[in-house]
Amino acid sequence: EFSWKLADHPKLPKGKTIGLVVLDGWGEANPDKFNCIHVAETPTMDSLKKGAPEKWRLVRAHGTAVGLPSEDDMGNSEVGHNALGAGRIFAQGAKLVDYALASGKIFEGEGFKYIKESFDTGTLHLIGLLSDGGVHSRLDQLLLLQKGASEQGAKRIRVHILTDGRDVLDGSSVGFVETLENELAKLQEKGVDAQIASGGGRMYVTMDRYENDWGVVKRGWDAQVLGEAPYKFRSGLEAVKKLREETGANDQYLPPFVIVDENGKPVGPIVDGDAVVTINFRADRMVMIAKALEYENFDKFDRVRFPKIRYAGMLQYDGELMLPSRYLVSPPEIERTSGEYLVHNGVRTFACSETVKFGHVTFFWNGNRSGCFNPEMEEYVEIPSDSGITFNVQPKMKALEIAEKARDAILSRKFHQVRVNLPNSDMVGHTGDIEATVVACKAADEAVKMILDAIEHVGGIYVVTADHGNAEDMVKRNKKGEPLLDRNGDIQILTSHTLQPVPVAIGGPGLAPGVRFRKDVPNGGLANVAATVMNLHGFEAPSDYEPTLIEVVDN
Ligand code: 3PG
Ligand code: CO
Repeated sequence: EFSWKLADHPKLPKGKTIGLVVLDGWGEANPDKFNCIHVAETPTMDSLKKGAPEKWRLVRAHGTAVGLPSEDDMGNSEVGHNALGAGRIFAQGAKLVDYALASGKIFEGEGFKYIKESFDTGTLHLIGLLSDGGVHSRLDQLLLLQKGASEQGAKRIRVHILTDGRDVLDGSSVGFVETLENELAKLQEKGVDAQIASGGGRMYVTMDRYENDWGVVKRGWDAQVLGEAPYKFRSGLEAVKKLREETGANDQYLPPFVIVDENGKPVGPIVDGDAVVTINFRADRMVMIAKALEYENFDKFDRVRFPKIRYAGMLQYDGELMLPSRYLVSPPEIERTSGEYLVHNGVRTFACSETVKFGHVTFFWNGNRSGCFNPEMEEYVEIPSDSGITFNVQPKMKALEIAEKARDAILSRKFHQVRVNLPNSDMVGHTGDIEATVVACKAADEAVKMILDAIEHVGGIYVVTADHGNAEDMVKRNKKGEPLLDRNGDIQILTSHTLQPVPVAIGGPGLAPGVRFRKDVPNGGLANVAATVMNLHGFEAPSDYEPTLIEVVDN
């Protein structure tokens, strides 16, 4: 019979304070000038790496090790934090949608049947990130969905695109729009009225997260639902090309636009009787638009018009809020996470980050679940992020403030686990600004130091790791690993994550003598960290968790 009670670890004591640090976007790669972590002054992380070899190691943070379809899939924060917190590898959204499309089951499910009711008289709107990044969505999945929907009777399809440049190279939006419009033209030949209706850059239109800036979602709403935007074009390709040239904006920040017909009338506002699908499988940047599309009562911005639509998410984005209530593919069921176990076993937990990463170390950590398990045992603190800026202008972000909160939580001795996410290397790495990313890495390193000092003070244990790579490689490379040049002979900046492994370091005065990394889990990944942390709290991990990374030798 199931029980939340964890067995005592045979050798390790309970009650130690553990400082658990996740450096976002901090991978291990060759030391060269495009490795911002190497270039930056990072004495704290360097000393962990140069310390005892049995207390520092690398783990896998991409591909199948975190439940992604293939080894070509870079890591990301959703799957990374899911694995860290849940201690097991779940087939993730990307993979589940692949299965559902390949088997055709997606078109037989409740969610699709629901939106299909609108096909006779209404338009099907598809809203989402247009790239092959595989982090939030995938272009090939969109194409299969729109083709399948047309075969299932959709007569009028409108696609509302969000250009990427963050999980893929900047400028690649042009090619993706071209591919999409070619596929839409094929549908038109078959008599389906199908075209792009609106768009904008993902960081400026629609895809905000953790309620950092509702203005982003509003800009999307105005274009997608109301058909209103500062820029109007006749095609998607014209839109992205001209906006890049004329406004100087990059793919991530393209201003909102609508596509208009020969009379200047928007071709695809969302109206009563239509169906809408948000095609992203990843949750964090879809929750806000899902609320706007679904909630009758909504006060985050003036929607002006709230059309009566049939709305479904590609997945359900929040299992706790049941949002959206309709979805095409069931999300991974990430249950019995380490956080929930620990709360049931008397471990008091503090978690903190700034807004842009707050949900990573809470929502993703806890298996895509909002809120804490038991408010008497847990405290979650969000430090407001600066909004409306790109983080290369503020590369230190709130690292110091996060570290101070963690320090105070550790020194208060009220908590057994103090968990933080330090966003700098990831958020600044995504801007592609190499100099700023170096500053970001230094700031994160200083934050780690403050937390380790506090752990030292209370006789605790630290576990320092990362969720995936980013800042350790800022250039697109060929198969041989050499930087790729574009037509002008310039290097191609890599704004995205990487396939690199990430470090795990353990230590601190509270670490029992004889604790060291085992040698028999050479392919260990992020999912092995949960059992490791449970051991350090004095418990055995559940038997179906990925094995612990540590052993205790008698000496
Ligand atoms: C984003 O959403 O900012 C990127 O697509 C992925 O970054 P993250 O996985 O580090 O959040
Ligand atoms: Co990132």
